[in-house]
Amino acid sequence: MRIAVINGPNLNLLGKRETDIYGNMPFEKFFEQLQAKYPQVTLSYYQSNIEGELINELQTVGYDHDGIVLNPAGYTHTSVAIGDAIAAIKAPVIEVHISNVHAREDFRKLSHVSGKSVGSIFGLGLKGYELAIEWFLSNA
Ligand code: DQA
Repeated sequence: MRIAVINGPNLNLLGKRETDIYGNMPFEKFFEQLQAKYPQVTLSYYQSNIEGELINELQTVGYDHDGIVLNPAGYTHTSVAIGDAIAAIKAPVIEVHISNVHAREDFRKLSHVSGKSVGSIFGLGLKGYELAIEWFLSNA
């Protein structure tokens, strides 16, 4: 099984960025743990701060992967084009947010991604990525 993990803007700063909200763990370190935990899954990781690059990556992995775990970060709330890319590709997408976007500012309650995804996980910290992989393992 091939699963792509894609992170959007500022998630390269995990471990340093607003640690009270996002925690202390750099994503690269967490990703190593994920790979160790799911040796039966071929996991890839991509991060970009640029909307078009995220769309290019969704198009690249979207036809030959079994699932995509996507945290579009701030673009969740603004990007019609990322929502369109999810609708265009074949691979099912699970939207993940580390924080509980519904318990924060109102603008974070709007997602252009949720309606195009098979499901969304928010507020469970980095564990959300793991739960998304578990779902693909049992359902895809
Ligand atoms: C986030 C939530 C977004 O609202 C925010 O812009 C992020 C991270 C999360 O993982 O909690 O950058 O996607």
